[in-house]
Amino acid sequence: MGHMDGLEVPECERCPALVESRSQIVNGTGPGDADILFVGEGPGAQEDQQGEPFVGRSGDVLDEALLEAGLDRENVRITNCVRCRPPENRDPTKEELNNCRGYLEREIELVDPELVVPIGKVPSEHLLERDVAVTTEAGDLVDAELGGGRRHVLISVHPAATLYDRSQRDVFFDTIEAAADYTDEESGQKQLGDF
Ligand code: URA
Repeated sequence: MGHMDGLEVPECERCPALVESRSQIVNGTGPGDADILFVGEGPGAQEDQQGEPFVGRSGDVLDEALLEAGLDRENVRITNCVRCRPPENRDPTKEELNNCRGYLEREIELVDPELVVPIGKVPSEHLLERDVAVTTEAGDLVDAELGGGRRHVLISVHPAATLYDRSQRDVFFDTIEAAADYTDEESGQKQLGDF
C-alpha cells in the first residue's frame, strides 16, 4: 500500500475529484484493537472539517445508540469506505471505493475485530460485494472475506435514515444493541476458554 505503514493514511492522491473536494483525509478513530469496527460511507462536511468520522448529525445518533447499548465511541473503532469527502456529498464512485479499498482491508486486518458493522447501503454493498436491501437485511449477521480472513458482518441501516423515518430508529438502535451483545458473548467465551 505504498506509504501506509499503520492504520492511518497520511497522504493519498488517487482520486482527483476527492483531492479537490476534501480539506483533509479522515482516518478511522478508536482503539487499534477494538472488538467492533463500524464502517461508514465517507466523510461529510463536519467530518471533513474536524478530521474525524461520524461527528455530524449521524454521529450524534450513533453516539446515542452506542450509549444505550452500554458502549461509547472510545470503545469502538469507526472508519469509512472512502477517507475523503466527495463533492456535494455525492456517493463515492465504484472507482473511488476501489481506490480506497486497500486502506480499509489493511485497517480490518490490523484491528482484527470480532465484528464488522457496515453502516448503511453503500458500505454494506461494498463489503459484501453484492446488492443489499438494508431495510430488510438490517440486523442480519453474515460472513465475508475481509482483511485477510473470514469475518462476521452485521448489516445496519444508516443513522441518517432515523432522522426522517422514526421506524428506522428502532431498527438502528436494535442493531447497535445486537453488536454490543455479540461482542460481549464472544469475549465471554474467550475468557471461559482460558480456564
Ligand atoms: N456518514 C458516513 O457514512 N460517514 C461519516 O463519517 C459520517 C456520516
